[in-house]
Amino acid sequence: MPVERVGVSFEPELLRKFDDLIRSKGYTNRSEAIRDIVREYIMNENLMREEGQGIGTITFIYNHDFSDVTHRLMHIQHEYHLEIYSSTHVHIDKELCLEVLVIRGDIENLKKLAGAISSQKGVKHCRLILLPLSSAKEI
Ligand code: NI
Repeated sequence: MPVERVGVSFEPELLRKFDDLIRSKGYTNRSEAIRDIVREYIMNENLMREEGQGIGTITFIYNHDFSDVTHRLMHIQHEYHLEIYSSTHVHIDKELCLEVLVIRGDIENLKKLAGAISSQKGVKHCRLILLPLSSAKEI
């Protein structure tokens, strides 16, 4: 496959961190690591813009002592019971909880569900991962 070369400028500190990270992941050269990152970025951006059916997870961390966040999160999950296939709850410490929801359905609804969770006060981190369900895109 033909390739095109591009030049990318990095601040030394950023490049050092990048090199440390990709070395720890087993990459032997920067080009392969950058290509993988670009592929994943394009796939994720395509999925986020895509319409139709999707599958994935929502992972979030919250402080269960914060106000009525536990009740609000449970209420949201019941609203989206058709999209949530399973949930796992892990007590991280005395205050923090981790939950992972396995979700499937209309991508628009899955994004709304993730938005509803991440916008709750008391939710510290929330990440939506969408994967191709039917038409896997080859990049
Ligand atoms: Ni908990």
